Amino acid sequence: MSNHESKRFSHATIERNTGLLIILSILVISFAGLVQIVPLFFQHSTTQAVEGVEPYDSLRLIGRDIYIREGCVGCHSQQIRMLQSEVQRYGPYSLAGESAFDHPFLWGSKRTGPDLARVGQRYSDEWHRIHLRDPRAVVPESNMPAYPWLAKNTVEGTNVQRRMEVLRQLGVPYTDEQIAAAPEALKGKTEEDAIVAYLQGLGVASHDAAARYMAGEK
Ligand code: HEC
Repeated sequence: MSNHESKRFSHATIERNTGLLIILSILVISFAGLVQIVPLFFQHSTTQAVEGVEPYDSLRLIGRDIYIREGCVGCHSQQIRMLQSEVQRYGPYSLAGESAFDHPFLWGSKRTGPDLARVGQRYSDEWHRIHLRDPRAVVPESNMPAYPWLAKNTVEGTNVQRRMEVLRQLGVPYTDEQIAAAPEALKGKTEEDAIVAYLQGLGVASHDAAARYMAGEK
């Protein structure tokens, strides 16, 4: 190393000292992360639910948990991007406030199948049941796995009240009445009923608010 280089704290010094390079890289990335992420916790558009969005009722909540358990998020995103092609195919692009009550988020990053952010009410309940039991029965070229056991498993007796209480601790505004009435709504229901209810609600209540936002009216 020449005298000239060793005397001052230069770029070369950092690049040749792996430990120092790692420490400084971590500092830079942490700072950049803080600047980008922290404001999101205080921003109205990311913390407040979009008009129409309500906490999941007990059946949909259980359906959502089954969606997580079965790994649907590995093939389906729930995030319509601000691209012409996406909006034409799936509907108004997703707003952060539409997932305000989602813990955890199910935005996903893989689309082996279509985005499901606004799949609610696009098909009948019956279509979903047939599709879940045997996707090839309605979409011959489908490579989605079948989930025939969902129709056989009951959701009665699930610890739904505990789940709602935990979500309330995370900021979901469930009332005591809603939590008290939760098990009643699961009487006689199967896992398939729950997941169909969940799918049929996706993106529906906030659709109009999202469309107005997209049109620049809000
Ligand atoms: C291995 C990847 C894969 C997994 C896992 C998967 N899917 Fe799919 N899904 C697909 C593909 C591919 C399609 C498109 C063909 C079809 O409709 O079957 C699809 C289509 C769908 C559709 C119709 C969407 C539309 O707009 O037409 C729904 C609803 C759906 N899947 C729900 C689910 C649910 C619920 C689960 C979990 C229980 C799941 N999928 C798991 C691959 C997958």
